[in-house]
Amino acid sequence: MTDEINIGLEGVLVGKTAISNVEGDIGRLSYRGKDINELSKQSLAAVIALVLADTELSETEAKTLDAWLASESELSPVELRVLEQLGRNLHPMAVLQALAPITDTKARQPLPDFIPAHLEAAMVLAAKQSAVVRTWHNLCQFGAVVELPEGLGFCEKLLYAFNREQPSAHAVRALETVQILQMDHSFNAGTFAGRVVASTKANLTASVGGSLGALSGPLHGGADEAAVMMARSIGSPDKAAAWVSDALANKVKIMGMGHREYRRLDPRAGILKPMARHFCEGTQYQELMETLVAVEEACQVEFAKKDKEIYANLEFYKGAVYLALGIEERFFTALFACSRVVGWAAHFYEFNQDPRLIRPRALYAGK
Ligand code: ACO
Repeated sequence: MTDEINIGLEGVLVGKTAISNVEGDIGRLSYRGKDINELSKQSLAAVIALVLADTELSETEAKTLDAWLASESELSPVELRVLEQLGRNLHPMAVLQALAPITDTKARQPLPDFIPAHLEAAMVLAAKQSAVVRTWHNLCQFGAVVELPEGLGFCEKLLYAFNREQPSAHAVRALETVQILQMDHSFNAGTFAGRVVASTKANLTASVGGSLGALSGPLHGGADEAAVMMARSIGSPDKAAAWVSDALANKVKIMGMGHREYRRLDPRAGILKPMARHFCEGTQYQELMETLVAVEEACQVEFAKKDKEIYANLEFYKGAVYLALGIEERFFTALFACSRVVGWAAHFYEFNQDPRLIRPRALYAGK
């Protein structure tokens, strides 16, 4: 035992995982050994099955799982009543965190037989988080839950509820891609928080509740909302360089920039940037997108001067895609959670294969 303190646990190995691999020095991310660039072209259901069950689905199986998730993505009458009682000023992340431990994770219909039965609760939770987010959105924005047509797919349901119209196949594909990109990321703060809760033998929904709290902060998942708010406050691309230089001089963190693991561009940002450009072009978000690009360019100049390896992360351009898909910034992190819950659940089961209470030491510094 040493008395050396490492508050941020930077570089400290605290366990093994076979779910995702973040190779920060070469800017590579993979889930179950498959590169994120390749996975981003697959269906969301196929990647959910890969991350959670370590299984590869045929196209037909992926369609079956998507339909199953869509139909499980409904709240029980009790869950709906709880949401209706909550103050509308509550942030969607607080609402997700409030609902997690009281979610009924029993499936209403049989789990497809190609998914192991012990994953039923995780699959239902993933389906229901999406229902919580769209229901909360509808209650806050429209004062009532949008009635959805029969037969919508899992992501289609969410986009329909947010926009009150049938989304294009192109938009559904874009949402699936964004959700795939953020499904797992090794021992990030939210996942590690969930593993700590799991280590006490708490159940899945309690563990996910812990993860949700960690994800909500602006140094983690909350950076998606914060990056768009930053771009809005800058106003236009021509103001970006001066804003960045002033921010860095005052030790203000640029939201969506920097990462504990990556010493290169986050591969997820590399996929999101052209998507964001494409979706924002010719829309009311084009200037916001151009402002983000100008901020990134200014950061490259400023960080290079200081010899710092700081690049855009997942959060930098994600919000621009979400906005173009009709998702307001207040809901960004909750949408992030709708995907990351799959990774959290995978870590919950992985941790429980070889569990041990996580309980570090503290150096007493009091009276
Ligand atoms: N803007 C300005 N300076 C930065 C930034 C940034 N975004 N990120 C790091 N730095 C600087 C720090 O000021 C520090 O400089 P110093 O050594 O001169 O004091 C140095 O780089 C190291 O920064 P730390 O914050 O110690 O690095 P850490 O590994 O703890 O931080 C973090 C990683 C929290 C992500 C950080 O880069 C940050 O705050 N970024 C902004 C928030 C953000 O985008 N979070 C989302 C991350 S992705 C995700 O969670 C899904």
